[in-house]
Amino acid sequence: MSATAQQPGATLRPATLRDAEKIHALVHLHRDELVPRPLGNIVEHIDRFLVAECDGELVGCAAYQIWPEIGDPLKATVEVQSVAVRVPYRHRGIGRLLVMGIVEKVRPFSPRELIVLTLTPAFFESMGFHETPKTHIMHKLYVGCINCTKHANPFTCPEHAMLLELV
Ligand SMILES: CC(C)(COP(=O)(O)OP(=O)(O)OC[C@H]1O[C@@H](n2cnc3c(N)ncnc32)[C@H](O)[C@@H]1OP(=O)(O)O)[C@@H](O)C(=O)NCCC(=O)NCCS
Repeated sequence: MSATAQQPGATLRPATLRDAEKIHALVHLHRDELVPRPLGNIVEHIDRFLVAECDGELVGCAAYQIWPEIGDPLKATVEVQSVAVRVPYRHRGIGRLLVMGIVEKVRPFSPRELIVLTLTPAFFESMGFHETPKTHIMHKLYVGCINCTKHANPFTCPEHAMLLELV
């Protein structure tokens, strides 16, 4: 991805620290669908975020995390996280722009695959992801899902594990 990528009506760019509060508000607004993130966590990992803007307004965000514990550490797995688009800006391709922006951002690192845990598998299927057994991402379940306050068991949680091979 170039420093900024254009799509009719939307601009994609790397997040800056000035975006942190708006990203926090957007993720919090979607707390039913997304893992909550404290503001400090967003600041700490701001280099992993992309944001989408329309008319100078931040309307969407997405982030990633590298998981060397899933698969071969030298061809690690990357998780797509915190994908959200503000309601009035949906169904214009901005979510897809954000996820494909993350793909382009991490591709130079040569990861083997992207994963995501999601309640909207059809959105990710439209970009080539396919469902994978949750056992494939056991480390993520141990580290992330252990602190979940919504579901007692990651295997009965309604989120789907999705995978996109990059090699
Ligand atoms: C999921 C979300 C990011 C999609 O954003 P968006 O900008 O509307 O998505 P796009 O316009 O790029 O949609 C791309 C494709 O995904 C599919 N899609 C989009 N939203 C969908 C949904 N809610 N359910 C099922 N499929 C969906 C459509 O097939 C669409 O293709 P089309 O426009 O050719 O029909 C947005 O609905 C959102 O912020 N939801 C709340 C947070 C969330 O659930 N995030 C994902 C979890 S990780």
